[in-house]
Amino acid sequence: MRLAVCSSKGGVGKTAMAANLAVALARRGRVLAVDVDPQDSLGRAFGVVAKSGDDSLAALLEDPSADARAVVRHDVTPGLDLLPSHPSLETAAAHLATTGGLVTSVRRVLRPLVGEYEHVVLDTRGDLGGLTLAAICAADAVLTVFTSDPGSAVGVARVAAFLEQQRTYENTSAVLVGVACAVWDQHGRAAREVAGALDGTDLPLLQTRVPLSRRVPTSTLAKRPVVLSHPTSPVATAYLALADEALTAAERVQR
Ligand SMILES: Nc1ncnc2c1ncn2[C@@H]1O[C@H](COP(=O)(O)OP(=O)(O)OP(=O)(O)O)[C@@H](O)[C@H]1O
Ligand SMILES: [Mg+2]
Repeated sequence: MRLAVCSSKGGVGKTAMAANLAVALARRGRVLAVDVDPQDSLGRAFGVVAKSGDDSLAALLEDPSADARAVVRHDVTPGLDLLPSHPSLETAAAHLATTGGLVTSVRRVLRPLVGEYEHVVLDTRGDLGGLTLAAICAADAVLTVFTSDPGSAVGVARVAAFLEQQRTYENTSAVLVGVACAVWDQHGRAAREVAGALDGTDLPLLQTRVPLSRRVPTSTLAKRPVVLSHPTSPVATAYLALADEALTAAERVQR
């Protein structure tokens, strides 16, 4: 599975989801985690920070002859390699957008690498702009997330429509394999209403909800996703179950 975690809205728990799903999937086979957000939060979730653009995805986007393997950080955690981002990804993407190379850029960069991995997990920025599209074009599956914020439900519908449009344009063959609650506030009315509203649609709502947990921000500080630091906690258990659900859904739609 090449899974892009996307949302049209920022701050909805994508990076925490991508980091923990990557760790969960690495229990089954080698995983490459790719940070396609200039904010470079996915790398930071593991304590990996590129010192310069040369040491990151930005360099690979800028120079098609660059060696992708030289930029990949190997065995960041057991079974998991990481391709970090850097703030200069913003300028690299803006340049490629003017020359027409942005849409296929991430797919091109990953091509020599993907054969070495069972799964690839791509974290994206909270928008449906050019870099997010480039990540989706490198993926075969998309996961989007919501929280108890009603705006995040609207965002889910936007991602679904955007993906459909890009499939029509033949920019990607990726399929929406899941809509997951990344921050489930079980006592909140808003959370129940948002989940209820999505339940009434034909979107592929995943059963597992990731509970609101202080362990998630703490794990970012500790540079160790919660699936690694507290693997039996309820929040880690939810990420592990979601990885299974996403994988099953991806296998079903790709059959
Ligand atoms: N299940 C959770 N429980 C509590 N806090 C959470 C949970 N998931 C994410 N968070 C926190 O919410 C904030 C936003 O999460 P995250 O950075 O993963 O969102 P994002 O969608 O990647 O944001 P951006 O769009 O800026 O990239 C972070 O402080 C994170 O620690
Ligand atoms: Mg993020």
